[in-house]
Amino acid sequence: MVTPVLRQAAEQLHADELQRLSAADQQSGAELPPGWLRSPRAVRRFILGDEALGISRKFYGDDSLVDRAIVTLLGRQGLMLVGEPGTAKSMLSELLAAAISGDSQLTIQGTAGTTEDHIKYSWNYALLLAEGPTLRALVGSPLYQGMSQGKLVRFEEITRCPPEIQDVLISLLSEKQMMIPELGEAGQLPARPGFNLIATANLRDRGVHEMSAALKRRFNFETVRPIGDSEFEVELVLRQLQRELGENAPVKVERDVIGLLVTVFQELRAGSTREGTAIKAPEAVMSTAEAVSVAYAGALEARYFGDGRLTPAELARQLLGVVFKDNRDDAKRLRHYLDSVVRERARRDANWKCFFDACKGLWD
Ligand SMILES: Nc1ncnc2c1ncn2[C@@H]1O[C@H](COP(=O)(O)OP(=O)(O)O)[C@@H](O)[C@H]1O
Ligand SMILES: [Mg+2]
Repeated sequence: MVTPVLRQAAEQLHADELQRLSAADQQSGAELPPGWLRSPRAVRRFILGDEALGISRKFYGDDSLVDRAIVTLLGRQGLMLVGEPGTAKSMLSELLAAAISGDSQLTIQGTAGTTEDHIKYSWNYALLLAEGPTLRALVGSPLYQGMSQGKLVRFEEITRCPPEIQDVLISLLSEKQMMIPELGEAGQLPARPGFNLIATANLRDRGVHEMSAALKRRFNFETVRPIGDSEFEVELVLRQLQRELGENAPVKVERDVIGLLVTVFQELRAGSTREGTAIKAPEAVMSTAEAVSVAYAGALEARYFGDGRLTPAELARQLLGVVFKDNRDDAKRLRHYLDSVVRERARRDANWKCFFDACKGLWD
């Protein structure tokens, strides 16, 4: 019996696919870069999909970005994924680490409270007192482990750390070794082949401009953009929704209803309608990830409180509650969008009418 968990790591969730990709590598005699579990081509297929091998597509959008990311990881530079929240930076870094190192768990989460210890190492104090500074007493950070095992390390939200803490990485990345002065002669940990760093940074946080120039030079920057193609996004939201609801979820979800949700998100994100009319974009994050959570919450509402069919009315309730949490100006912007754009569409389309009426009902 396997105990259910809320979320599996990518290497567990996609274990079958990863195995097939390894087998395909072996069959074709593909060359593996030092320290990598799979060939760069296999890594690419894992992320972008391959019908023949039964590999699902996981990242939608800019395929060449994935290629460049893989090439960066082959080289001496680290990879820095920057972008708005919810653009799949974390997902991409997890998938890369799972496919390349078979382990996406060597992760440091950047916060205002991140210290040098979190990046390098700390001590088991009981052992430290008992036997002094030994390798046994040392508690390596995820980065320490990645260096010693030759694996990719993920550094999430790096710009949330104070810049002086970020700078601890400079010497680690340029010298590819960690010094542990307490261990004396033996205190030198060289990084094994396969080690590299994937960092992510949100443009809404403190931002990358405060990162030191010296550290910036150790990374190749890639900007991850929101999905532009609405068909893609509808597809993605539908698929994620099905996955989150489970295989035989008794909620009926029509493509057109998700289409409406994606249109609303894309228009508010872009500050312009499909027809090209300018509207005021809210400050709230209108990412695909948010669209998925709105759809998911709406589907649960439909299942437990409705008739098992997801309609634009549930979406309207979730959208107002979830996305426009605490910003009065955003509420005004949404109101303007409703009155000028949605009202017009509601005259001609039943789904838009349902959405409009529900929003209006909540507002009045
Ligand atoms: N281009 C995309 N391709 C696939 N999934 C995406 C894409 N953009 C957003 N998503 C969805 O959004 C979710 C949240 O992404 P996440 O990696 O947490 O974003 P970030 O780290 O950029 O804030 C992903 O797990 C995925 O479901
Ligand atoms: Mg993230």
